[in-house]
Amino acid sequence: TQKIRIAIDGPAASGKSTTARLLAQKLGYLYIDTGAMYRAATLSVLRAGIDVHDEQAVVDHVRNIKISLKIVDGIQRTFLNDEDVSDQIRTPQINQIISVISSYPGVREVLIEQQRELAKEGGVVMDGRDIGTVVLPDAELKVFLVASIKERARRRQLDLERQGIKMDLKAIEQEIKQRDKLDSSRAQSPLKKADDARELDTTNLTIKEQVEIIYRWALEKI
Ligand code: C5P
Repeated sequence: TQKIRIAIDGPAASGKSTTARLLAQKLGYLYIDTGAMYRAATLSVLRAGIDVHDEQAVVDHVRNIKISLKIVDGIQRTFLNDEDVSDQIRTPQINQIISVISSYPGVREVLIEQQRELAKEGGVVMDGRDIGTVVLPDAELKVFLVASIKERARRRQLDLERQGIKMDLKAIEQEIKQRDKLDSSRAQSPLKKADDARELDTTNLTIKEQVEIIYRWALEKI
């Protein structure tokens, strides 16, 4: 059997990372969370006190940091220059400015090269915004996840609660909508369904159900 590459794209909080992680587990594949890479880059820029609107300074900074994804005790963690930053990268503050940083072509160039390198042996499930369109245009299976804005906001609120962060549902809805708008309208690799991607609406599906559906699609390709 061949080890395929599976691209999972979709808007914010559509369930990509949970689905991709469980699917990778089921297949014995590597899971690559590209959003975590953009998040770690954003955290690093913030910490360095760089003006996020200074594109050149941001790009220069991102060229000189090391981001890696490693499994620790069976859980995938995100490292920035060897520091585990997994808990620091999923905050409302990062969500607010990440779309600015990820819109810079120089930033994308650096991270996309790393993502392609990670996928080159196959046997990967990669999630993000531009995986099927730009990062892995030859992926054997491409999935585009969607869900209603209400359901996505509800799921994100639960995620945040688990981290001890309380946020109003309306505010979350606004943040998600704003991020989707920026991610979809940027010039460089915008959030967009690839022509050959299969779309899955997860609004009324459980995580288990959505993983099972994509798993079956994957088996057709293996
Ligand atoms: O998937 P997640 O919500 O963690 O992604 C955070 C942000 O990172 C997105 O809103 C987007 O701005 C950026 N991103 C991107 N391209 C990817 C993955 C994430 O631009 N492949």
